[in-house]
Amino acid sequence: MIEQVRGALDAALTRVVAAATLDELRAVDAVVLGKKGELARLKTILGSLPVEERKAFGLAINEAVGALQAASTERALELDSAEVSSRIAAERLDLTEVIARPTRGHAHLVTQAWERLEDVFIGLGFQVAEGPEVETDFYNFEALNMPRSHPARSGFDTLFTDYRQLEADSSDHTAADGHEPSVLLRTHTSPVQIRVMQSIEPPIYMVMPGRVFRRDTPDATHMPVFHQIEGLVIDRNITMAHLAGTIDSFTKAFFGGDFTSRLRPNYFPFTEPSAEFDIQRPDGTWIELGGCGMVHPNVLRACGLDPDEWSGFAFGFGIDRMARERHGIDDIRDMYSNDIRFIEQF
Ligand code: PHE
Repeated sequence: MIEQVRGALDAALTRVVAAATLDELRAVDAVVLGKKGELARLKTILGSLPVEERKAFGLAINEAVGALQAASTERALELDSAEVSSRIAAERLDLTEVIARPTRGHAHLVTQAWERLEDVFIGLGFQVAEGPEVETDFYNFEALNMPRSHPARSGFDTLFTDYRQLEADSSDHTAADGHEPSVLLRTHTSPVQIRVMQSIEPPIYMVMPGRVFRRDTPDATHMPVFHQIEGLVIDRNITMAHLAGTIDSFTKAFFGGDFTSRLRPNYFPFTEPSAEFDIQRPDGTWIELGGCGMVHPNVLRACGLDPDEWSGFAFGFGIDRMARERHGIDDIRDMYSNDIRFIEQF
């Protein structure tokens, strides 16, 4: 009889150890440890045995059941940890691609030039200010000595936020129905001069970079949205010589000691006298960079400054053009195309 118990145990143990998954093990357990299992069947004949054999047989069955339960628990632990590891392996994410091929971006070429310009001017003792991109007629034109009907206004190809259609040839920005729109996208950074003079007392040594807008069709040298940096100095006894010296120091600091600069007479309503400034490359060729001049007395007055006490100069030039010059870019539109083959070169 004891032999039968041992045989049933061995057979059951073999099946437990052979179970390949937790589900399979549960099914095996149900059979070998259940009511219909061989050990359960052997237990039912216990009562029919002679009393002297009953004790040893009962003990053998109990021990067999215990051994089987222990073996099943151990197999369950094994299978559980195997299933956890295989699930971890299956759910593993391969992140090595990022590590294997690092690509690092860089600031936009205009942003790079913008930041370098700020650095150079801070090095020359200037502070940095910014103003709003949506401006009023007062700041963009009127306070800059360009009252309505001033012919210089038509040169700016202004974008108005007003919905009304303007007369194509209207130089004073008056609509066909006589309405005069007064909110616009600033056409230059010069309105920030006015805001600075209104908010702080001279002496003022300030540069004002920013985005500007003009109604223009994009081509190799123009974009309807571009960037300028404005400079403004207001102090006592400021002369044109300070302006020329500042432009020249800036040119050498930004482009290098082998670049020079020159001023050419020009006209702007907000400066008098006014000039265009150019820089000369080491090979002798010239590039036109921007406009400048002595701040017009009317502009000082519009900002509540006495022209007999204060004088100053202002300049403004295109940042995009500087970026283009620095990197030798033929077509300014390439800088805004977001073509990775272009961007990756810098
Ligand atoms: N605001 C002028 C422009 O956009 C440039 C300029 C600035 C000229 C300051 C003189 C003084 O063309």
